[in-house]
Amino acid sequence: MSLDKNIIGIAAVAQNGVIGIKEENEMPWRCGEYVSHPFWNNFKDKQSFRPNDMKHFEDTTMGNVVIMGRKTWDSIPEKYRPLKERENIILSRREQFSGEGFSFYSSKEGVLDFIKKQDKKIFVMGGENIYRMFMPEMNGLIITRLHKDFEGDVYFPNMDLWTLTNRKPLGNADSELASLEYYVKK
Ligand SMILES: NC(=O)c1ccc[n+]([C@@H]2O[C@H](COP(=O)([O-])OP(=O)(O)OC[C@H]3O[C@@H](n4cnc5c(N)ncnc54)[C@H](OP(=O)(O)O)[C@@H]3O)[C@@H](O)[C@H]2O)c1
Repeated sequence: MSLDKNIIGIAAVAQNGVIGIKEENEMPWRCGEYVSHPFWNNFKDKQSFRPNDMKHFEDTTMGNVVIMGRKTWDSIPEKYRPLKERENIILSRREQFSGEGFSFYSSKEGVLDFIKKQDKKIFVMGGENIYRMFMPEMNGLIITRLHKDFEGDVYFPNMDLWTLTNRKPLGNADSELASLEYYVKK
């Protein structure tokens, strides 16, 4: 369905398509200094693989709307949520509350009604469930492509229907670790 809106998926995706680990409700890598979790203490690449994706994510989404699933919301440390200076929209069938800068919605239809009234850009920020859900409405993807396979069991959906239009380094210091990829629908 086309809503005539700018709806962009934004994700960090490993070479093998992995975006997360279900049981940990975490990403298998560390993004800048943002995430702190005991899991990292056991992760052999903890020190060596730290693409600074968080700055890119903040710069891109700031001032706009971010849509996420309840599990992704839960994965954000409490002190960082709602994500500042952005309207946070969270999908959940079981949690229904709202506050300054964030609202829970119980259905995709409710979110689409909200989107229709928005002038801001809409960023779909995961996880797997929510990327899948909004695949038909999204008209662009901004992917931080990590140059490495990771173990995990949460994946970005199939991208066969998308065309790569641009690729650039994530940042000078991190160019060996990750690239930014921009896609439009074929
Ligand atoms: N690499 C990346 O860029 C990136 C980005 C985001 C997340 N992640 C990773 O992805 C994983 C989480 O993804 P996930 O797919 O397991 O979970 P998710 O998409 O973040 O959230 C799933 C939840 O969304 C709610 N939901 C789903 N469909 C719904 C519907 N039709 N109506 C209302 N609510 C609905 C449900 O919440 P309730 O259970 O409350 O009903 C469901 O449990 C984590 O590992 C996270 O670290 C990675």
